[in-house]
Amino acid sequence: MSLRGRIIGTGSYVPKNILTNFDIGKMVDTSDEWITERTGIKERRIAGEGEAASDLSLQASKRALSEAGIKPNEIDMIIVATMSGDMPMPSTAAILQGKLGAKNAAAFDINGACSGFLYGLSVADSFIKSGMSKKLLLVGVDVNSRFINWQDRSTCVLFGDGAGAVVMKPTRTKRGILSTHLHSDGDLWDLICLPGGGSRHPASSESIKNNLHCIKMKGNETFKAAVRTLEKLALNTLKANNIKPSQLAMLIPHQANLRIIKAMAKRLGLPMSKVVVNLDRYGNTSGASIPIALDEAVREGRVRSGDYILFEAFGSGLTWASALVRW
Ligand code: ACO
Repeated sequence: MSLRGRIIGTGSYVPKNILTNFDIGKMVDTSDEWITERTGIKERRIAGEGEAASDLSLQASKRALSEAGIKPNEIDMIIVATMSGDMPMPSTAAILQGKLGAKNAAAFDINGACSGFLYGLSVADSFIKSGMSKKLLLVGVDVNSRFINWQDRSTCVLFGDGAGAVVMKPTRTKRGILSTHLHSDGDLWDLICLPGGGSRHPASSESIKNNLHCIKMKGNETFKAAVRTLEKLALNTLKANNIKPSQLAMLIPHQANLRIIKAMAKRLGLPMSKVVVNLDRYGNTSGASIPIALDEAVREGRVRSGDYILFEAFGSGLTWASALVRW
């Protein structure tokens, strides 16, 4: 058996503050009915004042490490997938390394937006396959609420905050990460972007006045691109592993829109009972959505040893990614 990465512990954390559709209805011209029908979202979590990406990551990581029975100083690498880290530098992974006391770990961030966790899973698996890492912590975290224009009804209803983490180690069994598939199309970068605060539009009173530090999205074009792309991605991932959709125990998709998820399930011929959905409670938590959904599925006892699980995500970049895992 060839060497591959295997997830041996999961953890997640969401902030306590709940913002419901009814709460948002008091802020902008929208309704619970519109948001529920168009997205499936009912409420989302909002990080408290002073609560940043590394704080959410710390809670999720502690839970994943405890589940894996691994101490922080045993971890040799920390990867954090985020587009809303504590600050542009240092990396959130480095801050997390300090907070955890993971003295023996290298640490770096990956920015793959909503596909970030699966990009991270692919990088993690590659480090493990090459022998560079023996015990690795991968976190997906986003504090999207800090980058929302709360007057823009087309984006403010969609996003939430949270963190999910997995601990990985090498295996030579049939279990683990069977394959990962990464894609991008930078010609479509402006479908979803946060233009301010970088070297193109550095922070200035003008950039703040123009809301350049908030997420902008061409929702409908993104929606169509997501549905088109994800079906092909899922089928190619299964084909690469010689697996039929009917052999899947579970689909864990990125949690952006229930209509996108249902379209995927339908095209794969999967009943919704095999699809993990939690966007009704958390909205789109970007890089955190897949590891939170995985952790909840594990803790609810929905995942069994030997199960084939398909992960897929789509987001800013554009980027899209998938992974087939044997649990
Ligand atoms: N409440 C009421 N009406 C609204 C709201 C709202 N919150 N938001 C938009 N509308 C209106 C629009 O103004 C528009 O009105 P008009 O017809 O008078 O112009 C109408 O509703 C329809 O707008 P659309 O944008 O066409 O609505 P759509 O059905 O596409 O739903 C949504 C919008 C939910 C954003 C959907 O397009 C979507 O989910 N897109 C994909 C999101 C995604 O997958 N993102 C990828 C990950 S994100 C990342 O990487 C950071």
